[in-house]
Amino acid sequence: MQVKAAGAPAATIVSMLLESGTLAAHHRRCDALFAAARQAAMAGAATELAARIAALREALLEHFRYEEEHLFPLYEQASGAASTGSLRSQHDDMRGILWLLATASAEDHLARYRADLGELQTIFDAHAADEESRLYPLFERLLVR
Ligand SMILES: [Fe+2]
Ligand SMILES: [Fe+2]
Repeated sequence: MQVKAAGAPAATIVSMLLESGTLAAHHRRCDALFAAARQAAMAGAATELAARIAALREALLEHFRYEEEHLFPLYEQASGAASTGSLRSQHDDMRGILWLLATASAEDHLARYRADLGELQTIFDAHAADEESRLYPLFERLLVR
C-alpha cells in the first residue's frame, strides 16, 4: 500500500486516506488480483495460478498489515467503543487460507485450490464491504469536526 503515513498526525492520515481513496482503491486492486487468480484456476493453468496467488498473497498481507498497524488503532481511538477484533480475526482467517494456498500444489490439487480461493474471496468481499461501510463514515465525520 503506497501510503506514507507512519508518524503523521491522525487527522493527516485520515485526510490522506479519504482524499486519495487509498483503502477502497486497494480493495479494488485486490478484487482485480482475485479475478486474475480465479481465471487461471478455471483455466486449470497451474503455473500461472501459482504466480497469480503469490501476487494476491503479497497484496493482501501488505494491506492487512497496514490496516492493523495504522488504520484500526485510529478507528478504535476515534470511535471510542468500537472494536476491530472481528476484522482482525477475519484477517487471521484469510492468512490461514493464504498459507494453505502457499503450501498446496495447484497442479496436484486443483479442485481443492479452487475451493480455497473461492472461500478466501467470499471472506474478503464481506470483510472489505464491512470496512468500507463502517470505517469510512467515521473518518468522514472526523474530518468535518
Ligand atoms: Fe481488513
Ligand atoms: Fe481492507
